[in-house]
Amino acid sequence: MSYPYQLKSYEEYKQAWQHSVTDPEGFWANVADHFYWRRKWDRVLEWNFKDPSVKWFLGAKVNITENCLDRHLGTLGNQPAIIWEPNDPEERHRVITYRDLYNKVCQFANVLKNNGVKKGDRVCIYMGMIPELAIAVLACARIGAIHSVVFGGFSAQSIADRIQDAQCSLVITCDGAFRGAKDIPLKAVIDDALMACPTVKKVIVCTRTRTPVSMLKGRDVWWEDEIKAVETQGNPPCPAEEMDAEDELFILYTSGSTGKPKGVVHTCGGYMVYANYTFVNTFQYKQGEVFFCTADIGWITGHSYIVYGPLSAGATTLMFEGVPTYPDAGRFWDIVDKYRVNTLYTAPTAIRSLMGFGLGPVNHKDLSSLTKLGSVGEPINEEAWHWYKDNIGKGRAPIADTWWQTETGGIMITTLAGVTPEKPGYATLPMPGIQPVLVDEQGKEIEGNGVSGNLCIKFPWPGMLRTTYGDHERCRTNYFATYENLYFTGDGCLRDEEGFYRITGRVDDVLNVSGHRIGTAEVENAINMHAGVVESAVVGYPHDIKGQGIYAYVILENLSKDPELTRKDIMQTVSRIIGPIAKPDRIQFVSGLPKTRSGKIMRRILRKIAENEMDNLGDTSTLLDPGVVDEIKRGRL
Ligand code: WT7
Repeated sequence: MSYPYQLKSYEEYKQAWQHSVTDPEGFWANVADHFYWRRKWDRVLEWNFKDPSVKWFLGAKVNITENCLDRHLGTLGNQPAIIWEPNDPEERHRVITYRDLYNKVCQFANVLKNNGVKKGDRVCIYMGMIPELAIAVLACARIGAIHSVVFGGFSAQSIADRIQDAQCSLVITCDGAFRGAKDIPLKAVIDDALMACPTVKKVIVCTRTRTPVSMLKGRDVWWEDEIKAVETQGNPPCPAEEMDAEDELFILYTSGSTGKPKGVVHTCGGYMVYANYTFVNTFQYKQGEVFFCTADIGWITGHSYIVYGPLSAGATTLMFEGVPTYPDAGRFWDIVDKYRVNTLYTAPTAIRSLMGFGLGPVNHKDLSSLTKLGSVGEPINEEAWHWYKDNIGKGRAPIADTWWQTETGGIMITTLAGVTPEKPGYATLPMPGIQPVLVDEQGKEIEGNGVSGNLCIKFPWPGMLRTTYGDHERCRTNYFATYENLYFTGDGCLRDEEGFYRITGRVDDVLNVSGHRIGTAEVENAINMHAGVVESAVVGYPHDIKGQGIYAYVILENLSKDPELTRKDIMQTVSRIIGPIAKPDRIQFVSGLPKTRSGKIMRRILRKIAENEMDNLGDTSTLLDPGVVDEIKRGRL
């Protein structure tokens, strides 16, 4: 496959960006022309950010799986689509060609149909990183069912919340998942979740760990048996459902500043074009290369850069089941070496954690195939950037520091590897089609260079979210109401003298822990559910490996006789309610929280204390009881 819209020089980039601003519709129509549409659009774009209402490729008919699978069969049928590396390096890896993948997706799509799934139905997917996860996702898209993938680290309660919010009718899961030395009982977690989910009529269980599971008659069926049933039917083909460009493709839940995660909705046409365009340009993909994104498909990074971006480009995508430190800290480098990986796309938290093991695990590995590197999920500190550049890229491979969000669908600000300039700590320049602006607190645009402010986007792009599931008003207030006529990202940002962007971090109550987005209110709600907890306040603090750690201030009804045990108990509760990823790193018991006279917790002060910037607390004169601040300072962990 060739990519006529792949930009090959800084000059071409500048021209493309300019074109995308002066004539956005013409620009995106030119890109979209290179996809397979059942019917082309009548209009490219209709939008307003007031409602908001954003529609791309109006009237067009498409199925994303025909772009990811069918259209490659003629030329790339025998090319590997997915290379799968298991958790245990001793287990056999799998190579799935485009033809294999097409067959498997059609087969499983027929399984879904046999189990009553229809276009528009919501399907929850809770699986480990095995090829069947990608197959399940694509099979949903094939028949027009809306997938909602939930990361394997979330608790039963979190799954239940997500299933209820989207009213899912079917769940696809595994008996269990292997992650490092651990064996996670996915089906058991689903069983707990489903006690509160009457909308779910069927559960399809794929075998992975062969751990014993309960199978409810009439509700639970085995993936393998269902496939056999389709084979017995003579393996009928599964024609792709014709979707409107603006029909919903998937929901992905993410945290915000309120307690309840929101279901970000992406649609078929625009998302497809944007995931593909950003993949092809950021990573300068060339046919035959092996692309390795280390994310989990449970996050947007996996959706866009393990599944839809690479497959729509006919690329070879490497899917890894395990973790970077199992069986040892050289695992990524072994994988790069074994499959001659050309592009590695990973997170700063992984880089920082691997840095801690020194160069031993890197030194004798052949990393010469690597020509491009990517970073995603959180700001990358300069030390990690240089370590990545020097020791993994051997000084040769460019680094694309890609800034984007679940809501944006694809990469927004980044270096195009080897094409546009890079600068440590900087995401650098906007993707063509993206018009970033920095605004002050009043929403006034801050023009010129050498400035900083809140990052907004002033024009729609095809991959942007369309709504939050079941609650459009929430979408409006969250993203489009802070500043008139702008999409507000929630991030602070600076633009240097050369016009390069550097993301400085969230300006709202959202934490970024190891690249995972966690709302402080969510963690507080979970802590407050623990018996004996009166109130709590959660803030982030700088953490060497995770980027941000979770610091919780907790008021107990009665002083604990064994504070260490109480801390562990509270962690258990948070794990149960949200999942292990939201466990606080530090819990400080306090007798009161700093509040204003109107009863609002002054997080600014708590944040400063957690950050150990005690001398810099700012104005505390509006506090109801300034005395609590001294107590909290003395008790800092
Ligand atoms: C938040 C979005 C985008 C996929 C993974 C995270 C932070 C993301 C960067 C980066 C600095 C970054 C932002 C953003 N973030 N990438 N390259 N540099 N910060 O998706 O869970 O929706 O989180 O992650 O704060 O708002 P997400």
